[in-house]
Amino acid sequence: MNSPNTSLIIRGIGSYTPSRILTNDEISQFVDTSDEWIRTRSGISERRIAAENESCSDMAVNAAREAIKMANLSPEDIDFLIVATMTPDTITPSTACLVQNKLGLRQIPSFDVGAACTGFIYILGIGSDMLQANSYRNALLIGAEKLSSILDWQDRSTCVLFGDGAGAAVLSRSDDTPGRGILGTYMEADGSDAAILNMPGGGSNCPATIDSVNDRMHYLKMAGREVFKAAVSVMDKSAREILEKFNLTADDISCVIPHQANLRIIDLLSTRLGISKDKFFVNLDRYGNTSAASVPLALDEAVRSGLIKSGDYVLLMAFGAGLTWATSLIKWQ
Ligand code: ACO
Repeated sequence: MNSPNTSLIIRGIGSYTPSRILTNDEISQFVDTSDEWIRTRSGISERRIAAENESCSDMAVNAAREAIKMANLSPEDIDFLIVATMTPDTITPSTACLVQNKLGLRQIPSFDVGAACTGFIYILGIGSDMLQANSYRNALLIGAEKLSSILDWQDRSTCVLFGDGAGAAVLSRSDDTPGRGILGTYMEADGSDAAILNMPGGGSNCPATIDSVNDRMHYLKMAGREVFKAAVSVMDKSAREILEKFNLTADDISCVIPHQANLRIIDLLSTRLGISKDKFFVNLDRYGNTSAASVPLALDEAVRSGLIKSGDYVLLMAFGAGLTWATSLIKWQ
């Protein structure tokens, strides 16, 4: 049972990125683009690309091991596992089940959530509710993506933006940090704009055929300008709503971990919300957009670099295909 002192804290965090670095200059050797265009339009300089035999679940496992280690727990202590991904190893079984086996976890509930780039904040919300409603103590939450497997390397408008990686958190019930930890997580979606960011092939609506492959249906498609406008508008709105709910102002926020999609989106959010730019953690220059891995990968680097201190209000926000968007407010333990 929860006592009035019970809180939910990120007890451990970890991340993993493949060793292969793909620079803008290298991409400009096979599509019509340039380092200058990519950096000025997106802020990205390079991204990581998984090896051919390195799967989404492999990257998830590497990030999870780091998070479990920081939490000072062992795999047996994990009570359930959720993986957020849009690039699962296979459509079925879930990547979570593969990770459960590779990590040697108990026979615990393990499942995937598909909310694209918003996935990690969605599973933070779902995981929080499961911890509060059940007798579970420790949740393992992972965002992992092998986006290189669904990128059209002939489409300069998408292939320059994304990268591979994984981030993981151990979310735990705590009885000695009252008032700290996850204060709230809010998730929203609007399917009316689903077509501006999707992968048309591979699902039951368009199974793989020779034609679907020839028509390049199994790659990510994006109407970049529309996605850009929607991203700024909904993240601005949801950040304002969460601050209002908790009676906080922009000045109270010490650190923002935004989805790492585009530096211009982050700059606009900073201006609109009145939260100074130096409070926004940015690592997209090195990794590009890693979708569901982006927020935990950034949070891991922010925590390990000592940027986030006890008592800080930290705002997580993300946006992705669906369209989906979510924010989470944390008072660091
Ligand atoms: N190199 C050179 N030129 C390019 C490239 C490229 N890589 N890509 C597009 N262009 C060209 C276009 O063809 C266009 O040329 P035209 O004017 O002759 O038609 C021109 O550049 C401008 O294109 P825009 O799309 O208008 O460029 P914009 O300034 O909007 O930047 C970008 C494009 C970077 C994609 C931007 O719109 C963006 O970041 N959008 C949001 C993307 C995003 O946040 N995605 C999140 C996805 S989350 C998830 O769930 C996966």
